[in-house]
Amino acid sequence: MTLAGRLILDQVSLSVNPGEIVGLVGPNGAGKTSLFEVLCGRYQCDSGRVNLRGKDITRLPFIKRARIGLGRTYQSPVVPSALTVAETFRAARKARRPYMSRHDAEWAARLAHLQVPWDTPAAALGAFDRRKLILACLLMRRPVVLLMDEPASGLINAEIDELDVIIRRLVDEYGIGVILIEHRLELLSAVADHAVVLDLGQVIASGTPEQVFANTSVKQAYFETINV
Ligand SMILES: Nc1ncnc2c1ncn2[C@@H]1O[C@H](COP(=O)(O)OP(=O)(O)OP(=O)(O)O)[C@@H](O)[C@H]1O
Ligand SMILES: [Mg+2]
Repeated sequence: MTLAGRLILDQVSLSVNPGEIVGLVGPNGAGKTSLFEVLCGRYQCDSGRVNLRGKDITRLPFIKRARIGLGRTYQSPVVPSALTVAETFRAARKARRPYMSRHDAEWAARLAHLQVPWDTPAAALGAFDRRKLILACLLMRRPVVLLMDEPASGLINAEIDELDVIIRRLVDEYGIGVILIEHRLELLSAVADHAVVLDLGQVIASGTPEQVFANTSVKQAYFETINV
């Protein structure tokens, strides 16, 4: 895929199975978010295919991909600034036909561990509760695959542990396939079944987190550039 005349993603291939967490890692600018844009349909690739449950969705627009089960979260947890939690859920419930019920919202809030009063303005929520609210709105739609872009960003360690528990349950109990972008390798090994490393728009390693992190080119691309 090219952007502004530059090759951003080159021959990238990855897949996620139901009930599996794939960690996507790589230095800044490696192309991780751009890959999510291609998968969710906001960027078009010049060649190659995107499949969901065996169906070719390469030409489907963003909205239709969401309708058939592709969920996506963003690096920044942006919530509607003028709405309360309840109003945010109501808007999300009415975004789909047939409308989802309040019961669906309550179920999703429990699954996302969202435990705030529903009359709280969404803008007053802390980073983790914002992420939980966004996740709950997505879960109501019963996604098949969730693309999560740096969901641990801005969270403290205890919150990251809780996030791992939430994601693990989505995968183990509901069979959702999760692709998760994370900068910090040590966080990925705690939760991912499989890891894929991108550098300069190419996959440079793929395997279990342990295999990938022992790989010399990963160490060069990753450790030397961000110096963790
Ligand atoms: N809309 C755009 N137009 C032009 N170039 C872009 C655009 N979006 C991203 N890029 C470039 O594509 C490359 C990959 O960016 P991308 O945001 O996908 O990286 P990333 O791996 O998600 O990085 P980070 O870890 O910082 O989030 C970068 O060189 C970036 O400057
Ligand atoms: Mg990114």
